[in-house]
Amino acid sequence: MIKIKDIHKSFADKMVLEGVSGEFKKGTCNLIIGASGTGKSVLLKCIVGLIPSDKGTIFYDLRNFSNADHEIKAQIRREIGMLFQGGALFDSKTVEQNVMFPLDILTKMPLGEKLDRVNFCLKRVGLENAAKKMPSEISGGMRKRVGIARAIVNNPAYLFCDEPNSGLDPQTSILIDELIQDITYEFNTTTIVVTHDMNSVMGIGDNIMFLYKGHKLWEGNKENITHSGIQELDDFVFANKVMSALRDKL
Ligand SMILES: Nc1ncnc2c1ncn2[C@@H]1O[C@H](COP(=O)(O)OP(=O)(O)OP(=O)(O)O)[C@@H](O)[C@H]1O
Ligand SMILES: [Mg+2]
Repeated sequence: MIKIKDIHKSFADKMVLEGVSGEFKKGTCNLIIGASGTGKSVLLKCIVGLIPSDKGTIFYDLRNFSNADHEIKAQIRREIGMLFQGGALFDSKTVEQNVMFPLDILTKMPLGEKLDRVNFCLKRVGLENAAKKMPSEISGGMRKRVGIARAIVNNPAYLFCDEPNSGLDPQTSILIDELIQDITYEFNTTTIVVTHDMNSVMGIGDNIMFLYKGHKLWEGNKENITHSGIQELDDFVFANKVMSALRDKL
């Protein structure tokens, strides 16, 4: 479980997060949604420690990440898998080398063991035949799957995905969503997915947090998201034409 309390972050005089709190349970897919520029990626980066928050506390299970010493922080980082917005694969490394990268920098595993683990993860995302290919030789959906394989290669307890569907067609997006959900349940990870894709929200949102201009305006699940009574959330949810047509039937 991950708990965040009163997270604040500003850049120069621009306040991006203004006191965000929440709880993300183990073995569930937690979605952070909201319009572009509302602070979703910044929140995710604060949670994983890629950027320091100005105020607030982050707990990884019972460990306080915010004031942890170097050793505990490093241990928690080893338990984190992350799929970055845009994929962030190394263009000059093969698929296999990309997936192996976290093991190279985080562990002292012998090469044979690393290869076994990489092959297991590539198989898990259906890419066992692409190990020797370069990122430029595979499709966008395959690149996302490489990113997912890399995110789970260190057997993480906590999995973070920033816009896993950006740039993908709706059908491939569903496959990627299902993969993230299956991995969450299979490996019992605490998963946080940042998205503005309503299909994902209705597909894999066990728990959903709606961010609006740096505040958490609503929290709930896919069953009650369509009748929150919050105008800003309705504007976000029903911006999609399909959802809009659905509203007319509600
Ligand atoms: N390193 C940074 N320095 C200055 N401002 C930043 C930095 N990172 C983010 N911001 C600003 O913080 C705000 C929130 O950005 P963020 O990337 O979290 O948005 P987002 O909700 O993830 O949007 P999108 O859906 O487009 O990815 C934006 O106004 C952005 O310009
Ligand atoms: Mg973002």
